[in-house]
Formats: sequence, C-alpha cells, structure tokens
Amino acid sequence: MFQRGQNSATTFLKRCCSTGVAVPVQHSTASRKQLGAAAAAAGAAGLAAWAVSPPHRLERSSHCADGGTLISAGVAAVVGGFGGYYLGTGKTADKTQTKYETYWPRKIMMVFGAPGAGKGTQGVKIVEELGIPQLSTGDMLREAVAAGTDVGKRAKEVMASGGLVSDEIVVGIIADRIKADDCKSGFILDGFPRTLAQAKTLDDMLAKKGEVVSLVMAFDVDPRVLEERICGRWMDKTSGRSYHVKYAPPKSMKLDKDGKLLTESMKDDVTGALLYQRADDTAAALKKRLDGYNTQTVPILDHYLPNGIVQHVDGGKPLDQVWVEVQTKMGRVS
Ligand code: AP5
Repeated sequence: MFQRGQNSATTFLKRCCSTGVAVPVQHSTASRKQLGAAAAAAGAAGLAAWAVSPPHRLERSSHCADGGTLISAGVAAVVGGFGGYYLGTGKTADKTQTKYETYWPRKIMMVFGAPGAGKGTQGVKIVEELGIPQLSTGDMLREAVAAGTDVGKRAKEVMASGGLVSDEIVVGIIADRIKADDCKSGFILDGFPRTLAQAKTLDDMLAKKGEVVSLVMAFDVDPRVLEERICGRWMDKTSGRSYHVKYAPPKSMKLDKDGKLLTESMKDDVTGALLYQRADDTAAALKKRLDGYNTQTVPILDHYLPNGIVQHVDGGKPLDQVWVEVQTKMGRVS
C-alpha cells in the first residue's frame, strides 16, 4: 500500500519537542556525549595501564623499539575507544527509539478541509517533518478501485460522482491501517473522519488503547478558489504526488503554440511517469463533494473543539506561506 511522502530514519531522529512528537534527539545527544567521554576515558585508562605496567614503563619508551610499541598501543586504544563509541551510540539510539515508542503517546493528527484545500499537499511536508505516515482514505480507496478489489468495486461509482463511501468501509480500512508497524510513533489522517459517526468510531477505537486525537489542522480556503485548484490538479498514480497547471506545474509541462496544455508533457518530476486527472476532479463532482463537506464533515470541527486541539490555517495563501503557518501551528498543540 503506498503512502504519500517519505519516512526516513533521519527524519525520525530529527523530530523535536516543538512538534509535540518526540524527544529522541535530545536523549541521544546526551547519551552520545556520555558515551564519548566514557570511550575516551577507557582509551586513556588502557594507555596509562600499559605505560605503567612492568615491561612497558614510560621511562623505557626512550628506546626506539619501545616507543614504536607505545604508539601502536596508543593507536589501538584510540581506535578501540572510537569503535566502542560508535557501537555504543548505535545501541543507545535503538534503545531510545524503543523507549520512545513504548512510553510516549502516538502523535495522532488530522489534516482537515474542503476538497482542494491543500490537505494532500501540506500533508506530504508534514510527513517529511515528523517522519510519521499520512493515511489518506481517498488514496487507499483509489488504490482499491485501480486494483479492482471488492472494496474498490463498491466505492468506484460513488467516488466518481463525488459522494461519500460508506462509514463501514472506510472505518474498516483505517482500523487495519493504524495497526501497521509504521504507525508506531503516530500518523496523519487525511480525508478521515468525514462524518460525525466516523469521528466517534475513531475516538472509541483510540480510547481502547488510551489514545486520543492530538491535533486537527483545519485548512480554511475560500470556496471560489477551490474549483480552479481541483480542475487544474494532476496526480502521480504511484506516489500520490499532486501538481497544478498554474500553482505547482511539473518540470516537464509544455504548452502548444496557442498556449494549450500538452497533456502528454505532464510527467512526474521524480519518476517521469505520466500524470493523470482524477475522475472526481470536475466542476460537477466538486459541487457534490462541497455539499457533502459542508453538511457532513464540518460538524466534526465542533466535535473536537472542546478538546482544544483544533488549529486553523489560512489555506488560501501561496503554498510556502501555508507551510510556514502549518509549522507554527504544529508546535502549538501536542
Ligand atoms: P479525497 O482523496 O480525500 O479527496 P478530498 O477530500 O476531496 O480532497 P482532495 O484530495 O481533493 O483535496 P486536498 O485538500 O488534498 O487538495 P490538494 O492538496 O491535492 O477523497 C476522494 C473521495 O474518496 C471522496 O469524495 C469520497 O468519495 C471518498 N472518501 C475518501 N475518504 C472518505 C471517508 N473518510 N468517508 C467516505 N468517503 C471517503 O490540492 C489541490 C490542488 O491545489 C493541487 O493541484 C495543489 O497543487 C493545489 N494547491 C494546494 N495548495 C495550494 C496553495 N496554497 N496555493 C495554490 N495551489 C495549491
């Protein structure tokens, strides 16, 4: 199952307290210092012991042969010390990671907003920042449709028309997905929950493990700009990366002499694969999607408001400015 963005070991270690997600960097830095000092002390102690031991007293080191042996022993001690240091830091990082995964609560956040509000676009950046996966029910359902599974067959038409897939299907998908290994430190929900019933089921599911949703990041965008965003969007099937003819064009994009888009030039920046437009990215389907969003999804914000975890972001600003606001708001609630 594909997921948007990357989840590298480096970003895991980069997570920091300001995001409310992690502490490993601080712990591992402290441990590294301690281990480095211990390793250096061990090396020095070894060298001193060698120097004062009967056959190798320092006064004898004035002889060339003994001096050479002393240097070799010194080099061995230093190499040993560094070896021990690196082995030690690796183990400490593993131990810290295990400790963190065992005792700290998972970061469970939602990206929330109307179709085209920027959930997918900003979600990928959050994945890179926090190192936790973005779970997009829309992506998972599209994958099921493409694979022709039972779920896909049941979801295909309702999705293309802009309607909502049944709560039972999406809850089932999410319940399985959040048990996966890569969700151990947390996850970002994108497009779920979409109804109050889904939100309540999610809360119950999490409560069984003593967990709660920690942050709802709501993107506010004037409905008038959504149609341009949706109808100009192109996507990469494999990664879920999204582009826009005007705001985020792929590097390969070309226009003909009349300024018309050459669709065959729309290729993914990373793999070069041809991009596609979603079946529901039409003005007609958008109208239905927006109706569903306003009547069924928006009430979810009121549901989470009393928990003090809802943060609003002005999603109508240019991409980079939205990202700055997202980062600021991520640090505000944990
Ligand atoms: P889903 O895939 O979740 O679609 P959606 O919620 O309608 O959201 P979008 O993916 O369209 O919008 P986005 O906010 O991610 O926008 P993006 O960042 O790409 O769901 C699809 C369907 O699946 C549903 O209709 C339903 O049928 C079904 N479904 C899914 N989950 C379900 C659930 N829980 N229950 C029931 N049914 C479910 O941005 C859009 C474009 O704008 C891009 O081209 C981007 O480059 C551009 N853009 C983004 N930000 C900016 C900016 N700041 N400035 C300029 N351009 C921007």
